[in-house]
Amino acid sequence: DDSSHYDFVIVGGGTSGLVIANRLSELRDVTVAVIEAGDSVLNNHNVSTVTGYGRAFGTEIDWAYQTEDQTYAGGGKQTMRAGKAIGGTSTINGMSYTRAQKAQIDAWEHVGNKGWNWDSLFPYYKKSTRLQVPTSDQIDQGADYYIDYHGKDGPVKIGWPRAMTNSTMLPQLDETFQRLGLPFNRDANGGSMVGLTVHPNTVDREANVRHDAARAYYWPYENRSNLKIISNTYANKVIWASNAGSEAVAIGVEVTGVDGIGTIYASKEVILSAGSLKSSVLLELSGIGNPDVLSKYDIPVRVNISTVGENLQDQTNSGLSYEGNALWLGSPTFSALPSASQIFGDNVSDVASLVNASLADYARAVSKYSNGAVQEVNALNAFQLQYDLIFKSQVPYAEIVLLPIGHSFSSEYWPLLPFSRGSIHIQSADSSQPPSINPNYFMFDQDLSANAEVARYVRKAFHTAPLSNLVGEELAPGQERVPENASEPIWESWVKSNYRSNFHPVGTASMLPRDKGGVVGNDLRVYGTKNVRVVDASILPFQLCGHLTSTLYAVAERASDLIKRRYIF
Ligand code: FDA
Repeated sequence: DDSSHYDFVIVGGGTSGLVIANRLSELRDVTVAVIEAGDSVLNNHNVSTVTGYGRAFGTEIDWAYQTEDQTYAGGGKQTMRAGKAIGGTSTINGMSYTRAQKAQIDAWEHVGNKGWNWDSLFPYYKKSTRLQVPTSDQIDQGADYYIDYHGKDGPVKIGWPRAMTNSTMLPQLDETFQRLGLPFNRDANGGSMVGLTVHPNTVDREANVRHDAARAYYWPYENRSNLKIISNTYANKVIWASNAGSEAVAIGVEVTGVDGIGTIYASKEVILSAGSLKSSVLLELSGIGNPDVLSKYDIPVRVNISTVGENLQDQTNSGLSYEGNALWLGSPTFSALPSASQIFGDNVSDVASLVNASLADYARAVSKYSNGAVQEVNALNAFQLQYDLIFKSQVPYAEIVLLPIGHSFSSEYWPLLPFSRGSIHIQSADSSQPPSINPNYFMFDQDLSANAEVARYVRKAFHTAPLSNLVGEELAPGQERVPENASEPIWESWVKSNYRSNFHPVGTASMLPRDKGGVVGNDLRVYGTKNVRVVDASILPFQLCGHLTSTLYAVAERASDLIKRRYIF
């Protein structure tokens, strides 16, 4: 029956999946289905409210994945949030729109992903977005941009919230951070991110609602007769043609929907866009992965790729907060993005030497943790590249979000490029059973001390005028818990008991050459398959200094063109 046969079947109607669905269904003669576990959240106020960050957490639209005990981080589990809705995680996220440092995207090509570099991605950052040029009030409050960096008519509306923080705030923050050696960055979205910036959000300013992937890429197009979202439907695994030759050929996806178990057939391709904590799991359930993992659950191996589910990279988020000396209204979008030199000052070369001397140990430990699935040499190459980005290219080392709201002035910060690497693997052949998720937070001392070091920098900023005049008592961690001039171990123990996931997991189906540990190639096709791709945060081989959606929208736009090219030109 027609309702179960399509040309393209996309698993996951989230941030990335809806881009692909939209762009492929521009071709009138192809049919596209999107299998989505969640439902419409168009009328969900926890989603649409611009100031509602956090309200959707723990509700039915939050997967709230649980990690394993984090043994390097004091033992407890962490919750990794992700959206279960048409629109995916873009419906519950913090809406910050910042891209990446140019050198980070160029690194994708340097490691062998031909065609993926800043210059080739930049047109897609623009294609995916539409800048809502700030009003004169917003400009007074600090909104700033270079028009050339931005899209004019793309689907995702980016801009500043209707109500921004009062105009006296930015000059005071700027003066404070200038004293710490951090310049003002008028627009961090041109590939050069270091500085204090007032970044845009994914927000529809006129309608005053969050502009998520569904509002951008799906709802305005929902009447396309060749585009179907099959919601409230859970994908279990890919179904393969039985007479596969050297490459595995997907014919569809097994799903559990409102009417029970069924199959949605794909005559051309299956595209996995279920997010970085799901797509690699679906690969394993479908027989693509490490034979050591699959054999435990009697799953026949279709393609042996030992790194499926490895290379899990996330950041850790902590925050300092203060009593405010005023009442602040509006939604702040201030971020400080200092480089390693700006954080460590005179000590930066000592820190760099220490890290450099540890890279081989890190690589050995990561390979060992994966039981050899990740080759030591590949891990080492990745770490050397990361070292170069941090200490030579001087990409931002941390993001510090400054939040003057109401009567308090809080902050959130996260070191941007931790060295820890974890994994996600199935624990059953039954797709309804949760996988084992282990980000290995603070696997290396360096990652913990980075957190402590950035926390000290944040406190220093709050102690520097004029910012120091705006705040009163420190509420977290507080001088009792972490006294002035506290030693590093005291900061570290506070970090361990207060951090959370930064909700930026990437890398579990990395785009890399196969002999370097890749799961997908530069066309995002899974190695050893004829017609299965992964397009979502799983394919990012390395963590980024920007928030993820900007780059995911751009990657999915570029992927859409790659897919179209295969079928129409
Ligand atoms: P995404 O999660 O969007 O989509 C996956 C979809 O697949 C979901 O809709 C899911 O329901 C569906 N799915 C999963 N398994 C399925 C199955 N078996 N069957 C059917 N459907 C299935 N980024 C940013 O740019 N700015 C920010 O401010 C923030 N802040 C932030 C806060 C919080 C709380 C979170 C959790 C995340 C952020 N992020 C962020 C990160 C960013 O939102 C995130 O990385 C992307 O939205 C992920 O997009 P993907 O396309 O990878 O997956």
